[in-house]
Amino acid sequence: MWPKDLLAISDLSIEQVEELFALVKDMKADRKKYETSCKGKILGMLFRKPSTRTRVSFETAIYQLGGTGMLFRPDELQLGRGESVADTARVLSRYIDAMMIRTFSHDEVVEFGKHASIPTVNGLTDYLHPCQGLTDYFTMYEKVESLRGLKVTYLGDGNNVAHSLILGAAKTGVHLTLATPLGFEPDPAVMELAKSDAEKTGARFEIKSNPVEAVKGARVIYTDVWASMGQEGEADEREKLFKAYQVNLDLLKHAAENWIFMHCLPAHRGHEVVNEVCDHEQSVIFDEAENRLHVQKGILYNLLNR
Ligand code: CP
Ligand code: NVA
Repeated sequence: MWPKDLLAISDLSIEQVEELFALVKDMKADRKKYETSCKGKILGMLFRKPSTRTRVSFETAIYQLGGTGMLFRPDELQLGRGESVADTARVLSRYIDAMMIRTFSHDEVVEFGKHASIPTVNGLTDYLHPCQGLTDYFTMYEKVESLRGLKVTYLGDGNNVAHSLILGAAKTGVHLTLATPLGFEPDPAVMELAKSDAEKTGARFEIKSNPVEAVKGARVIYTDVWASMGQEGEADEREKLFKAYQVNLDLLKHAAENWIFMHCLPAHRGHEVVNEVCDHEQSVIFDEAENRLHVQKGILYNLLNR
């Protein structure tokens, strides 16, 4: 049975991730079949940070499953005037059927989930972005023969998206290399969390600082912004530190010939990636963005039909 909440990819078992991908494939092929599967259910969505994909794909997802989305900005709730997360969770659980939260502190979604009787979904924290990570592996699953042993290289900051890629690699058996500037490596606690699944699936991890070494022979090249939401003030300083990690056609000469480029988006074109890569026929960034909708339908279907 699925857990009550989806706060991290590690909340799911290896089998649940496999089953999710099969379900999402079916949902994508036959939208009609699922259009009443969450009939009348209300999904609340709280955003403490901006969003295009997460915001629109979650609302569309619940609508396509027969339910309704309800958007909250923190300043519209008493939460913005100091009502506790715990009390907000207790009260909203009496009205709505599930809650999605995008916020800064990971502890806030954990706290909400702990006090809510309804399913709680992490729509991005500073620490993790599980819906993105699951979408990324679903997209790879569509594009390549097998995820087991697939060589994926992530370049950039070792934060939320990288952390979810690590936890997803462990579930799927991917060989993930991360290339980050010194001091921006992923949290060792995430690597630790990935360990037992990696032993079962054969996932492997390497952390490198040299971007050319890191992309050698990789089939999937992935990057994310250099300054995440909330770090805008560090953008200039980070630009200098991350410059060598830009995904451009020169760097991709070292990847497998049939490389696939991925990015969670939004992309800062001309910074972490150049137009020639974003718009290349081997870039799958818009399929990946579309898949946020399908994967979130799969997540909501599972959480609302436990
Ligand atoms: N990738 C992603 O989460 O995009 P948004 O910030 O637009 O939701
Ligand atoms: N690391 C980025 C991901 C955006 C989807 C951020 O947190 O802003």
